Amino acid sequence: MDRMPFIGGNWKMNLSRGHACSLARAVAEGLRTAPGSPRTAEVAIFPAFVHLDAVGAILRDQSDAGVLLGAQDCYYEPDGAFTGEVSLAMLRDLGVGAVLTGHSERRHVLLEPDSLINAKTRAALMDGFTCVLCVGETLAQREDGATDAINEHQLRAGLEGVSHAHADRLVIAYEPVWAIGTGKTASAADAQRAHAAIRAVLGTLFGETVAGATRVIYGGSVKPSNADELARQPDIDGFLVGGASLDAGDFTEIVGAIAH
Ligand code: PGA
Repeated sequence: MDRMPFIGGNWKMNLSRGHACSLARAVAEGLRTAPGSPRTAEVAIFPAFVHLDAVGAILRDQSDAGVLLGAQDCYYEPDGAFTGEVSLAMLRDLGVGAVLTGHSERRHVLLEPDSLINAKTRAALMDGFTCVLCVGETLAQREDGATDAINEHQLRAGLEGVSHAHADRLVIAYEPVWAIGTGKTASAADAQRAHAAIRAVLGTLFGETVAGATRVIYGGSVKPSNADELARQPDIDGFLVGGASLDAGDFTEIVGAIAH
């Protein structure tokens, strides 16, 4: 099954407003002029909330580059007394089309439970956003041989109550926690094995057709030097890129590795 690759640049809590704007311009420019354009991939960047407005204006100006504006988080209630939170309607107002849920830093640093990740995922999908649900095991869990069990648990919990009618906007990011920001990457063979197991779980949840059409992307120290081999794996449909997405040249190269 042909799946349109999805590549996300997760800028995390980095960049001043000025730097975020110049990076957004450079990414749009790099993609527009990359060999092989027009691209055959969906590309999104995920700046910090406070830069969404400014970056969104740049992406609208450079709409021929086709870069989707993404948010790193969202809240699931439509409005009300939730100090510090940002609703999906507010994000839509800024032109956001994609959100991340369940990122490992939100699970392990901010201690978000599965129930909260599930509520955000359901709300984002129901509201028509592309939702990138992130799953992945810690090093201790990997050493215990629990990779597939952890991924399955996080998928089942994160997707509870998601209707298969909304699953076409779902992207799963497999991000082994030990590989995020550490310079260590899962081997292409290990990543492929985990992706195939994730797709099998999606099959039991939504049926084979949806599972075959859902993008399962890899994240964790993706860089130009390892993107090619990962991209050749049949169940790796794109990347969620952290550190390397802060360099427009590296990010564009990574997009080029999977967008043919
Ligand atoms: P990294 O981050 O590429 O810096 O490892 C990936 C992510 O957290 O999405």
